[in-house]
Amino acid sequence: MKHLMRSRANPHIRELLAEGGLSLAKLIQPIFVVEAMSGEEDIVGLVDNRRMGVQAALRQIESDVKNGVRHFMLFPVPAQKGIAPDPGADIISAIKGAFASDIHLWVDTCLCSSSPLGHCCLFQEDSQSKIDLEATLNTLGSYARAYAGAGADGIAPSDMMDGRVAAIRAQLDQHGHQDIPIMSYSTKFSSAFYGPFRAAADSTPNFGDRRQYQIDVRNRTDALNASMRCADEGADLLMLKPGMTSIDLLKPIFKKTSLPVGVYQVSGEYASLALLGREGLTDFNAALLETWHVFQRAGAQYIITYGARKGHDLGIALT
Ligand code: PBG
Repeated sequence: MKHLMRSRANPHIRELLAEGGLSLAKLIQPIFVVEAMSGEEDIVGLVDNRRMGVQAALRQIESDVKNGVRHFMLFPVPAQKGIAPDPGADIISAIKGAFASDIHLWVDTCLCSSSPLGHCCLFQEDSQSKIDLEATLNTLGSYARAYAGAGADGIAPSDMMDGRVAAIRAQLDQHGHQDIPIMSYSTKFSSAFYGPFRAAADSTPNFGDRRQYQIDVRNRTDALNASMRCADEGADLLMLKPGMTSIDLLKPIFKKTSLPVGVYQVSGEYASLALLGREGLTDFNAALLETWHVFQRAGAQYIITYGARKGHDLGIALT
């Protein structure tokens, strides 16, 4: 199946990508689900978002669906570190078992939550600086295949390794998942705005940083090339991250690829508005809504935001 049809064939993606004004169907709500956790825990700065066990997550999703949220980005957080064959597949089957096609479940696909080193890749055995690309791509591909097998509606690779979209597409296709779209974190900058997330996903690197594979904010050409390469490798949707610091690239990337391009309003962006609100220095809801309108004005076709579940209260309709 060609990638254009893969997106059209799914009613939730049709709404996500429909041209027009802001609607709840264009917002994607991240969720952090921790294997074997009972109950839930606050995440510093991420107001209205928590780390949850599966049961709590099911209750949260139920309430989100009532509030018009249709798209979720799942971050499966394994109970123990280690590269297991399919970390989080049981979480996906529990969620899809409960909500079936009422929701569209994207699954963030990366190694940083399961890797003992907290990096998005595997390293060659004798080194903590040389990435083992082949092993990384094979592992990402098998995670994606396991996620699709467990019922994921879309795969969202966030690791920034060269060649991962092609590797994941090949494994999905070989295992009968031709209809599962790939939303690639295609231009992902090395950024100081990911702090609250790393605590939530338990993915802070043990050593070094991610500049070896994430893009330097000074480099526009690299930023354009990274998204173009994902398009060439078969990504169905592209995404820029962080959101606000990438808006200048939305239209150029769309012009070069003709693929839908969205933004991820990352944890530090959301938390900074929430903290200003908490200090009484701004109206958090008004600020959030303002940023979403700016994303749309700049050409974002969809928005991943920790505030999707507040969209209904902010007066945004489903379509
Ligand atoms: C991990 C991943 C990160 C985010 C999404 N997937 C963190 C990182 O790259 O360090 C960040 C999201 C956020 O800050 O909200 N591959």
